[in-house]
Amino acid sequence: MAIAFESLYSDIAGRCGKLTVGKKTVKTPALLPVINPHLQLVTPKEMQAMGVEALITNAYIFSQSRQFRERALTEGLHKVLDFDGVIMTDSGSFQLSVYGEVSITNTETLSFQRDIGSDIWVPLDIPTSPAADRETTERELAITLQRLAEAKEVFGPDAPIAGPVQGGTFGDLRELSARKVTELGFTFCPVGAVVPLMESYRYRDLVKVVMASKRELSPSACVHLFGAGHPSMFALATAMGCDLFDSAAYALYAKDGRYLTAHGSYRIEELADLPCACSVCRSHTAEELRAAPDRERLLALHNLYVTLAEISRVRQAIVDGTLWELVDERCRGHPRLLDGYRELLTHAPALAAHDRVSKRRFFYRGDESCQRTEVLRYQQQLARLRLGKNVLVVIDGKVQGGYDDTLFFRPPFGPYPAELRETFPIGPCETPDWDAAMVHQGCRGIRALAESHPKSRIVIAAGPAWAGLIREELAEMETVDDEV
Ligand code: GUN
Ligand code: ZN
Repeated sequence: MAIAFESLYSDIAGRCGKLTVGKKTVKTPALLPVINPHLQLVTPKEMQAMGVEALITNAYIFSQSRQFRERALTEGLHKVLDFDGVIMTDSGSFQLSVYGEVSITNTETLSFQRDIGSDIWVPLDIPTSPAADRETTERELAITLQRLAEAKEVFGPDAPIAGPVQGGTFGDLRELSARKVTELGFTFCPVGAVVPLMESYRYRDLVKVVMASKRELSPSACVHLFGAGHPSMFALATAMGCDLFDSAAYALYAKDGRYLTAHGSYRIEELADLPCACSVCRSHTAEELRAAPDRERLLALHNLYVTLAEISRVRQAIVDGTLWELVDERCRGHPRLLDGYRELLTHAPALAAHDRVSKRRFFYRGDESCQRTEVLRYQQQLARLRLGKNVLVVIDGKVQGGYDDTLFFRPPFGPYPAELRETFPIGPCETPDWDAAMVHQGCRGIRALAESHPKSRIVIAAGPAWAGLIREELAEMETVDDEV
């Protein structure tokens, strides 16, 4: 019954993979829609027809429900919800974070989740508020870890139990938490208590928290980002190595009259037209959608379609090796997402270790592209070039004689030998006309080359367009005027 995860394609630290729970499998990245048994705007059966392979529901609601408790225990969760895919159950920790207490213990909720036939069980972890001080965060983390140890002891090493990572906004506590969860043998690891960060658009902090957690989780662990459901952040979260998302956003936004898109959301009153290809939007005008008696359900359907389509887009970007371009595009939808993206780029050294060697293309999309993993990695690998004593780097002019080796220049990467002209990243790199940021980054490549080849004399030949900038950037290096 153990939970297994296999990565099939990867890009940055993101993976397209296969989650196996018992006999069932789920393609990842995946969105698990949140089902409230009392309020089903879209039924699990309809979701299955839309391609949903897994969903999440709250075991605490079932355990407290006069209507559903006994049925779930006798007929099982899959029958009650009429869904034969993977069903994950949450414990009541969410209620704990909202109401401060719940009338159930850790082993009680886990036993209940087992008894209703849930596929993935969640212990009663404590989602520590990001506002909590260090002492509180440490104390609550200790309780969470003790409950995770108890879960393994009582239900055995192979029970399908999730091991949530807590630790608030303290990077070292997130690392500690992830390390302990890994030591305890959990292979399915949600990153918890991030909902308040996402609700207040603190994407920079979100990136710090997830990156700290990922540092200490096993690469083979399936990572779930608890409560993440806005499609505009799937690319960013996937790039960090998050494999699963769950969300009530499609329904909560619908109740609130809000229309999701991958770039952000609209109030339904604001829409003059419906910018979407789903069946709801193609069969209604904005006016009709606003006035429809079942508007909440129609909005929920649209929101779900958009969310699932974005998951598909992220999967395709991973297969293509174009996830950075998608992250760049999505993170320009909101300035605080851009903060998150910029924070992610500061982690390029850690991400480069996971990133794949070759991709379909490299599209330059502005200054941020200079900090991408491919650039960093290319510049690190320049140390491997074997060079003679006298080396000419031709920036944008003509080749000159009298050198042992001649290299060319492709910003933002830097110098390259003719043999690499067609290979990734030099060949499939598409840039607009050179700008100062990319030339500046390319100069770093030249400096990296010089530093890793102290025995070579490196001379730079630049044409008039870039000679000034190059001389400024590489003041310590020898240049020759290019005869044009
Ligand atoms: N739902 C959203 N965040 C959390 C969390 O940290 N733990 C649990 N169990 N459920 C959540
Ligand atoms: Zn639509």
